[in-house]
Amino acid sequence: MPGVIVVGAQWGDEGKGKVVDLLARDADIVVRFGGGNNAGHTLLVGEERTVLHLIPAGVLHQGKICVIANGVVIDPEVLIAELTALRQRGYLTDDACLKISDEAHVILPYHKAIDLARERLRGKGEIGTTGRGIGPTYEDKMARTGIRVVDLLDEAVFREKLERNLEEKNIYLRSILKEPAMEFAAIFDAYRGYADRLRRYVTDTALYLHQAIDAGRRILFEGAQGTMLDVDHGTYPYVTSSNTVAGAVCAGAGVGPGGFEAVVGICKAYTTRVGNGPFPTEERGAIGERLRETGDEFGATTGRPRRCGWFDAVLVRRAARLNGLTGIALTKLDVLTGLDPLRICVAYRARGERFERVPASTRLLEEVVPEYEELPGWTPPLTAARRLEDLPANARRYVARLEELAATPFTMISVGAEREETIILG
Ligand code: GDP
Ligand code: IMO
Ligand code: MG
Repeated sequence: MPGVIVVGAQWGDEGKGKVVDLLARDADIVVRFGGGNNAGHTLLVGEERTVLHLIPAGVLHQGKICVIANGVVIDPEVLIAELTALRQRGYLTDDACLKISDEAHVILPYHKAIDLARERLRGKGEIGTTGRGIGPTYEDKMARTGIRVVDLLDEAVFREKLERNLEEKNIYLRSILKEPAMEFAAIFDAYRGYADRLRRYVTDTALYLHQAIDAGRRILFEGAQGTMLDVDHGTYPYVTSSNTVAGAVCAGAGVGPGGFEAVVGICKAYTTRVGNGPFPTEERGAIGERLRETGDEFGATTGRPRRCGWFDAVLVRRAARLNGLTGIALTKLDVLTGLDPLRICVAYRARGERFERVPASTRLLEEVVPEYEELPGWTPPLTAARRLEDLPANARRYVARLEELAATPFTMISVGAEREETIILG
């Protein structure tokens, strides 16, 4: 199949948006297959910065088809705002360039209220969700009570499902979460308006993709979040509520598992995480602060400061295996300029044991102490580099060691946020 999958290899925010925008040049169709507007994918083209939450990062290339597939959970209000802003800038002016799955699930106001109220009740133990209603929407999907786009478009079906759901959600909100109940009419009217606005884009995206595959069109699948946020393979329960690994493409877009051309993992040259949960290589002091400031590590969705730390090869090797990565795009190497020495975590130690894998126990992972290797840093800025030879010797040495530890070929090195600030290797 002429398809390339891009996924995050760490805890999200690895620079998937930048890389997908770049790879979209060679694609006809770009597909989001999971997550929702918990994602924030940043694209910098010239001076123009775009943050996308739901619309695939192929949108800045005229004529590419953007698909929001069935595995995505859609907040229609956010989607319409994003679409309107893009159209005002001259993108997606052709309605045929955006396709929304009729089977995608819809985020409703009660999902957001439940998400936020639960986090408040958890207090110190909060997950640190984005508060966008993602978890409660996937819960309803699995509980088979969710409202899909196709249901939203049918007034009678939508009325019936919303009435039934709201009855139950209001009991939960009032009695358990101590939140005010929600009014049917306000939600119904607003969502009827959204339905009318989005109807023209809605289609059977799985069928569309099958036909595109048969026609030999090139498809880029854009992952959201990161491998360590996967509900099965991440640092549970400090994860998102969907599968974020490459395998999720099949269910999330309705395509078979055969023969993808490439699976590209996006990986920062260090590590960040936003939200709570174990993070073995986190630097809470001056180094973390330095990475946050230089790397501008503030959430693209919530603006929260991201937690920062050293590169963790144990995690990345795991991501390589779980996703079947055929290549890695290393991002934000430029951010490490001036730090000396550089540290790379090669194993963990805890309870008298040495781990070269990520233990499933969250408690144990919270206890582990990283075993570091040190490498010398460099001082020249990297942003102008376009070939590997343009990098200082110590930067090349650092990259070579990461590549060896990740046991996966590096196909791209990003040395700046801008589209062109990239070294293409393979
Ligand atoms: P995503 O969620 O994986 O798409 O990543 P985000 O957009 O949330 O966060 C990545 C941030 O790093 C964005 O602000 C990008 O513009 C920026 N970025 C991406 N690649 C590079 C790079 O190589 N160097 C620098 N300095 N910034 C980068
Ligand atoms: P992109 O696609 C980073 C994190 C949240 C929280 C956990 C659960 O931009 O890489 P949720 O709202 O999904 O229930 O929150 O997951 N999270 C992300 N962290 N990047 C993301 O997306 C994320 N999407 C969710 O911070 O810890
Ligand atoms: Mg992001």
